Amino acid sequence: MKVLLFGHTGQVGSALAEQAVAPAVVQSLNRADVDLADSSAIDRVICQAQPDVVINAAAYTAVDRAESEPDEAYQVNAKAPGVMAQACLECQALLVHYSTDYVFDGRGRQPYVEDSPTGPTGVYARSKLAGELAVMAAGGQAIILRTGWVYSHDGRNFLNTMLRLAESGEPLSVVVDQVGSPTYAPDLATATWEIIDRFQALSSACKPRIFHATNHGKVSWHGFASALFERLGRDDVVVEAITTAMYPTAAPRPAYSVLSNERLDREFGVRLPSWEDAMVRCLDRLRATEP
Ligand SMILES: NC(=O)c1ccc[n+]([C@@H]2O[C@H](COP(=O)([O-])OP(=O)(O)OC[C@H]3O[C@@H](n4cnc5c(N)ncnc54)[C@H](OP(=O)(O)O)[C@@H]3O)[C@@H](O)[C@H]2O)c1
Repeated sequence: MKVLLFGHTGQVGSALAEQAVAPAVVQSLNRADVDLADSSAIDRVICQAQPDVVINAAAYTAVDRAESEPDEAYQVNAKAPGVMAQACLECQALLVHYSTDYVFDGRGRQPYVEDSPTGPTGVYARSKLAGELAVMAAGGQAIILRTGWVYSHDGRNFLNTMLRLAESGEPLSVVVDQVGSPTYAPDLATATWEIIDRFQALSSACKPRIFHATNHGKVSWHGFASALFERLGRDDVVVEAITTAMYPTAAPRPAYSVLSNERLDREFGVRLPSWEDAMVRCLDRLRATEP
């Protein structure tokens, strides 16, 4: 099974590359190989490779910077996935593409299902929704995995930022009125490979489908940070709760972004572990790689 992977230097992409096993033969492409701003290069590389599966883990993920760089965000997050989907249709490949909890406005109080009305509130969020729509419009075999609050043992993310800031000895101020499901990139990668495996086994042509894929459970950013330092036995770290209004950002953040994973479980039998379990494994992995 020949797999083309875009974005292998990112959190999810590197986990996908690390976990790839036979029969998957992965060709990883980085920005130097194909810049997603170059639509014709995307089309060319897919058509030349004739893959069975294309995984797009690349995205413009600088949520706040996107507010001042909308063209760049739309090119990578909206246009490029559409070009990939069209090229996949032509060579009958499955496209696996990632999207985000930010497609919702965050005013819900129950886990969002795939068909819940969308309402993105910033440039990044709107560009990701436009990417979903472009993939859907191409009409080929495609799986869109909406995820949220992604972190990993390496890369720039909330968990690593908290660990770094804690070294200052100052109290940490963390937002308490945003609730979501922290998702460990390696768990999302494992789920992705399971989905691809089961999709191949089903061998039935399918229309583009959206699935929600996050670690199980929900917590606020403040709760996540508190759990992190509790697990580390760091009772010297003070984690103060602040509101979103006290921490202004260029792009708005949804207050509630919990995604129901029921469809993923029902149709593929795929379930991601709890966020607590994932956090512990992430910390174990960090400890194992300490010098
Ligand atoms: N991070 C989150 O909290 C979060 C939440 C919800 C959904 N998601 C979605 O999950 C997916 C994976 O996110 P992630 O956290 O793994 O992202 P990430 O760590 O920020 O990695 C992004 C990847 O995209 C590549 N990329 C960006 N612009 C590119 C361009 N113009 N040409 C080629 N490659 C380009 C980057 O390459 P370079 O290394 O060269 O920059 C990198 O490999 C994305 O679709 C994202 O929208 C993420």
